[in-house]
Amino acid sequence: MLFAGVKDGSIGFKPLPPMLDPNFDSVQVPEGYRVERFFSWGDPVVKGAPEWAPDASDNWEAQNTQAGQNHDGMAYFPFPDAPNAHGLLVVNHEYINPTLHSDGFTAMRAEGGGITRPEAQVRKEQAAHGVSVIEVRRDKAGHWRQVKDSPYGRRITASTPMAISGPMRGADSMKTASDPGGETILGTINNCSMGVTPWGTYLTCEENWSNYFVNRDRVDHESRASHKRYGVGTGNNSEIYAWEAVDTRFDATPVNDQPQQGHVNEPNRFGWVVEIDPFDPQSQPRKCTAMGRLIRECATVAVDDDGTMAVYSGDDTRGEYVYKYVPAGRYRDGDKAGNDKLLDEGTLYVAVFREDGSGDWRALQQGNGGLTAQNGFVTQQDVLVNARAAADVLGATPMDRPEWVAVHPHSKDVYVTLTNNKHRGSKPDQPVNAANPRPNNLHGQILRWRENGGRLDATGFTWEIFLLAGDRPSADSPDNLTGTIDGDIFSSPDGLWFDPQGRLWIQTDYSDADPENAQMGTNQMLCADPATREVKRFLVGPRGCEVSGVTTTPDGRAMWVNIQHPGGSFPASDGKTRPRSSTMLVTKDDGGVIGS
Ligand code: FEO
Ligand code: CA
Ligand code: CA
Ligand code: CA
Repeated sequence: MLFAGVKDGSIGFKPLPPMLDPNFDSVQVPEGYRVERFFSWGDPVVKGAPEWAPDASDNWEAQNTQAGQNHDGMAYFPFPDAPNAHGLLVVNHEYINPTLHSDGFTAMRAEGGGITRPEAQVRKEQAAHGVSVIEVRRDKAGHWRQVKDSPYGRRITASTPMAISGPMRGADSMKTASDPGGETILGTINNCSMGVTPWGTYLTCEENWSNYFVNRDRVDHESRASHKRYGVGTGNNSEIYAWEAVDTRFDATPVNDQPQQGHVNEPNRFGWVVEIDPFDPQSQPRKCTAMGRLIRECATVAVDDDGTMAVYSGDDTRGEYVYKYVPAGRYRDGDKAGNDKLLDEGTLYVAVFREDGSGDWRALQQGNGGLTAQNGFVTQQDVLVNARAAADVLGATPMDRPEWVAVHPHSKDVYVTLTNNKHRGSKPDQPVNAANPRPNNLHGQILRWRENGGRLDATGFTWEIFLLAGDRPSADSPDNLTGTIDGDIFSSPDGLWFDPQGRLWIQTDYSDADPENAQMGTNQMLCADPATREVKRFLVGPRGCEVSGVTTTPDGRAMWVNIQHPGGSFPASDGKTRPRSSTMLVTKDDGGVIGS
């Protein structure tokens, strides 16, 4: 099978060596390029927001108006009048670090076990989650800047009201004490990757939300697939932040066996795709439920010339699956009423990767396969809220942690990163298979496929491994650490994005302190030619970071890249200032296309 390469362009930069300096606290790009800090945690977003206080003394009200932490997926939305000089940048804030607070993360032991948290800290943590929308402009001198006090400046947080849209609206499994109708949810959390619709909205995805909830009733938890199958904890507190100590909706322990008296259904209200219209600051975000409930990494949208659409998602947990959603209708330019339905009415599929290189999309449709009342799937709502359990029944292929999906802009070839999986080959439900070929897979791989007939709505495809990440083969390197990369080595591919000319950008997320990653250096972004498979290292980040999130102007001459959870004092890089996740701006000295 021939896969499409870079069209009308090339990959022309001189690649960087791996960054092996144990104290590196900066970002490097190739000769002929410039990189600068653009937008960091705490920077003002909403009109009138205060500047970031370096001692982290900003209170939660200030944080509500400033950039959140842990920048992740992002997208540039051009204004039609000057698409390559004026736009909105929309940035996910995945989670928070203890550096958020001037006095550190405070947890106090409560009577009868468990911990309590100061309300002011929890509120600030909730405000540092979600999404930022900022206006950006290139000035006459050619410099890109954030427009201060812009009317578009907006923060969406873990507390922003959003409507339930699609099949789960009003479902019994979405009703709680604070929302007895099952219609409105407060907030979005753990926003990792994203998607962009052809009608100009942003799709933010809810990844590891289960860490924020607890169900202390172990007996109930055992039989409740919507908690257990997604990893909701059963201890004294939720896994990470113990928000339930202040905000009771994060305590999902059932009350009196009456779902609407407590918050047992609150975890059912996360794991969805959230649609945001960045151009309308007054618009209410909506949770689009027809695409199922996952530990959702991404929602990558592809559109054919005839308006047929597909939305691809990875469910990032060891042994979970790859999904595709196909709207029932077709996208039509300017048809707002019709386009509004596309994310609400359609079919959700899960992938089977066969040993012979063929693949199947199996429909998560009530009544299909074993998705019957007998197996607990009485309605389509049961299927969507327990999409993982439904995919189990359909025989989906358990993968090595599916992260981002990227679709080639011209050929519609689809690529997915499978970041790593130390359980592969040792857990009985995750045997080695052709798509996940290495036991104890510490470095991950990138897969690609073409839909049958080149149609996005096909129910079958042909797939192959694009590359296995890892070290070069040598006499003494164990097989599970040996990759097939033609070019610059890396581990744990995560972010994955095609630029408009078909260059494949790969971003990594591994622990640069682990000995098996020592030769890889710090986390990085690389550029691959999909036709030749050659990989070149374009950017290296500071120690302790991951690189996640990339977007460009339509002409490819300005690129933004996110540095998440840097370790040292980045971006101040003075050895003392607390580190801040940051969006970096990359330009070429000659004003050319990035990567060319
Ligand atoms: Fe938030 Fe799967 O990365
Ligand atoms: Ca991350
Ligand atoms: Ca990720
Ligand atoms: Ca990752």
